[in-house]
Amino acid sequence: MSKQIVRKAVIPAAGLGTRFLPATKAIPKEMIPIVDVPMIQHIVEEAVRSGITDIVLITARNKEAIENHFDFSYELEDTLEKKEKKDLLEISRSIGKMCNLISVRQKMPLGLGHAVLCAAPVIGNEPFAVLLGDDLIDSKVPCTQQLCEIYARENASVVGVMEVPAAEVSKYGIVGGDMLRAGLMHVKRLVEKPAMADAPSRYAIPGRYVLSPSIFECLRNTKPGKGGEIQLTDALQLLAEREKLLAFQFEGTRYDTGDRLGFIDATLAFALRRPDLAAGVREIMKRHLEIRG
Ligand code: G1P
Repeated sequence: MSKQIVRKAVIPAAGLGTRFLPATKAIPKEMIPIVDVPMIQHIVEEAVRSGITDIVLITARNKEAIENHFDFSYELEDTLEKKEKKDLLEISRSIGKMCNLISVRQKMPLGLGHAVLCAAPVIGNEPFAVLLGDDLIDSKVPCTQQLCEIYARENASVVGVMEVPAAEVSKYGIVGGDMLRAGLMHVKRLVEKPAMADAPSRYAIPGRYVLSPSIFECLRNTKPGKGGEIQLTDALQLLAEREKLLAFQFEGTRYDTGDRLGFIDATLAFALRRPDLAAGVREIMKRHLEIRG
């Protein structure tokens, strides 16, 4: 594997978002905001802050709102310019300028592995990052950048991991292998959403990967697995048998925004960090806690 800079990322966004119904009946779940920033923008910002320039968005029908969000909005921006609302104009324009967005349709819902495989013609023979939209990771150094640094140093594919309680291993792809040093594992085994008894460790993958393009050949050879879907985790098992695959315990706080409580957790955490909102949010929380006891 040759040493290359990671400049492309795949963001799968083709799911129906049924876990968030009714909110997702007519709008993509990726457009639901954490405070006032759509979830997908948080993810794209992480990628861009990590040095990614080209984002391959895997979409499906009814996801056009995401593409519009990362485009310029002529009517809105013209109106803001005429009204001299410079701050809002800058917010809107900066999103349009953020990255090159390349949309690829996943025409059949065959699983996360299949979604990533849809990006193969755009990625070509380069290493690339994968960021899953339900996982928001708040960290000083963006999680994807932490993984890109490991990729560059070790010249090996790497998945971000976090330790989870035994009762939660069945929610994630779980890795097992040999610890090379604190926080870095040489991965030998991966299992998608194992029962507690079958989990090779308690190190879970919360949706951040930097992968060599060999993963595409592995994905092509991956049979449907858990839930009858082509799983990225199963393809990573094939990759681990061919090339070095690492797992890195990244620094940062992860929010599961695909879960209602995780979403509320992220919303409060992000609101409390905003100088324009923090005091007001504290007041509101205090009031609710007093009323409800
Ligand atoms: C997917 C992956 C799983 C990973 C998880 C992280 O599962 O298949 O390996 O741990 O994302 O959020 P999903 O939660 O989409 O079912």
